[in-house]
Amino acid sequence: MKISMIAAMSTNRVIGINNDLPWHLPDDFKFFQTKTKGHHVLMGRKNYESLPAKFRPLPNRTNLIITKNEKYQAENTHIFHSLENAIEYAEINGEQELFIIGGGEIYKLALPYTDTIYLTEVNASLNGHAYFPIFDKQIFKEIQRSHHATDEQHLYSFDYVTYHKKVSEKKMYECL
Ligand SMILES: NC(=O)c1ccc[n+]([C@@H]2O[C@H](COP(=O)([O-])OP(=O)(O)OC[C@H]3O[C@@H](n4cnc5c(N)ncnc54)[C@H](OP(=O)(O)O)[C@@H]3O)[C@@H](O)[C@H]2O)c1
Repeated sequence: MKISMIAAMSTNRVIGINNDLPWHLPDDFKFFQTKTKGHHVLMGRKNYESLPAKFRPLPNRTNLIITKNEKYQAENTHIFHSLENAIEYAEINGEQELFIIGGGEIYKLALPYTDTIYLTEVNASLNGHAYFPIFDKQIFKEIQRSHHATDEQHLYSFDYVTYHKKVSEKKMYECL
């Protein structure tokens, strides 16, 4: 099973403010919907609670939430108390591509398990409370980039960027 992250961040790595998104970028939202539809999506409890009620749980996706709270409940979702148990659940369920959908704590936690990062790089420096982790660009190589200009619906321009983890030589030989 492939593990992918999908996120949008500002030039200073901000992804959220006051448990909300710092922007309204409808085309990026559509990109997120298209990419994740039909898949397992794994998120932190705070991210889940930040979703607007009508998108909670995210429709047409299997919603996995992680929390340290043993009593936590949310209708039509699956609750886990460790990242590893949530990943294992998706794998056992036959998922081909699990999406890590944030927020900041969960992106940081999941980075070592991640194969691909779909990162929307928003061309603005903004205030915030949640950040996307710094990742090593020697390990994650940019393989695709497409630009979206500012328009009446999008206050900021942005780039859709895909980063792929390079497979180490050792790992390649292990596959032979
Ligand atoms: N721009 C984007 O792409 C994007 C995407 C997603 C979210 N966001 C934004 O990100 C912000 C939320 O991010 P955040 O960093 O504050 O919170 P978060 O990562 O969504 O959730 C943090 C919570 O996850 C649980 N957790 C963390 N580590 C855990 C572990 N090892 N085991 C079990 N549970 C664990 C804890 O829940 P308990 O406290 O219940 O134990 C913790 O409080 C919001 O502003 C949201 O809008 C932005």
